[in-house]
Amino acid sequence: MPGIVIVGAQWGDEGKGKLVDLLAERSDVVVRFQGGNNAGHTIVHGDTKYAFHLVPSGILYPGTTCIIGNGVVVDPEVLLGELAQLATQGVDSSGLRISPNAHVIMPYHKLLDVAGETRLGKNQIGTTKRGIGPCYADKALRLGIRIQDLLDASILKKKIAAAMEPKARSLRPWERDEILDLQTMTEAYLAFGHKLEPHIADTAALVWDALDAGGHVLFEGAQAALLDIDHGTYPFVTSSNPVSGSAAVGSGAGPKDLDEIWGVVKAYCTRVGAGPFPTELDGPLADGLREKGGERGTTTGRDRRIGWLDLVALKYAARLCTLDQLCITKLDVLSGQKTIKVATRYRTADGAELERFPFHQTVLHHATPEYDELPGWDEDITDVRRMEDLPQAAQDYLAYVEEKSGVPIGMVGVGPAQDQVIWTDAGRASEAAKSVDLS
Ligand code: IMP
Repeated sequence: MPGIVIVGAQWGDEGKGKLVDLLAERSDVVVRFQGGNNAGHTIVHGDTKYAFHLVPSGILYPGTTCIIGNGVVVDPEVLLGELAQLATQGVDSSGLRISPNAHVIMPYHKLLDVAGETRLGKNQIGTTKRGIGPCYADKALRLGIRIQDLLDASILKKKIAAAMEPKARSLRPWERDEILDLQTMTEAYLAFGHKLEPHIADTAALVWDALDAGGHVLFEGAQAALLDIDHGTYPFVTSSNPVSGSAAVGSGAGPKDLDEIWGVVKAYCTRVGAGPFPTELDGPLADGLREKGGERGTTTGRDRRIGWLDLVALKYAARLCTLDQLCITKLDVLSGQKTIKVATRYRTADGAELERFPFHQTVLHHATPEYDELPGWDEDITDVRRMEDLPQAAQDYLAYVEEKSGVPIGMVGVGPAQDQVIWTDAGRASEAAKSVDLS
């Protein structure tokens, strides 16, 4: 005890990075278990901003072992760039460990991601074009290049050739592109492997040893439950499993090692990329929340779609991930709304009422949400640090979300800085049980 998992409980960009950062400070190990550099978050410490895509942000705390687990897909060039950037900011990344079993994003994966989206035309998924899907596809096809292969000159070239062979037709437009030349690619990726070698280790064993010694291990999810390839709004999803169960698979821990699971939830909803989004708003209300919440992607710079909180989707995510605690982020962004809407059920095209998230894509596409309306508040809450100091309407909103979702709220975010948080009684009690002093 304890293994603590943090996952997104909506469509991503809930602000997981901040909770991860708060909990990482007292973790022995922080492990990323899925996704790749399609994720991104910024951590603000004092006046310094740190941008993370692959490296767990726990790297900012000396003594914390940070792991890129076997479930992650790694673009070595991006990773090395991130490490170089952290070095210029004075961050010692020598504690980073990478699983030899993590799969490598190759140049052809990125080209195929772009080509796939172009082919889909108006039906495109809106991927981050980082090669994530094609890399996971090769993993499933057993044509993947793994981190350990970057250390093996004799085998790497053969594996790349085997992986490229069935893609020849799709890659034809880039036939003469130097980037896809077998020899050039092999040399470049061996060089990446050489640079990453000091970080490559048996990461599953590191996780086991920390857990078995009673250490704190934090499992850091990327993306979110509704983007899960099995349980999300397929095909408008990412290519991995961001649900909490994947923390075990993607790190080597066992399911019983996951002691506590936090779901991070924005006080409203956002989504980037295409796909169903029942509570989506448009017009000045959406523009206002987007502006106030800075809802532009850290990774791709795209404007995020905006909507009201969706309890049908949240309850689904809470059950999928067996959430123990919610962390509600960006509550301050709702200040100034006269009323706040929350979707409690969907109405289907044929008039049926649904309280459960529909499994059928067509039903979801045509579902219209039905809302409860709660009073808003005007006060600036960014300096509030205790629940009882929040305006009554904000307290009522949180109590409502807690009651309807059935999951206690442990923490509330009221601004971008690390100290702009409110620990609730439930959050404090849970931390105290783990001998953590929050005072
Ligand atoms: P991919 O993960 O790049 O293949 O993109 C698939 C879908 O997941 C697209 O709708 C992306 O916008 C979305 N997505 C991927 N990563 C993130 C993330 O970190 N936050 C929010 N959405 C994401």
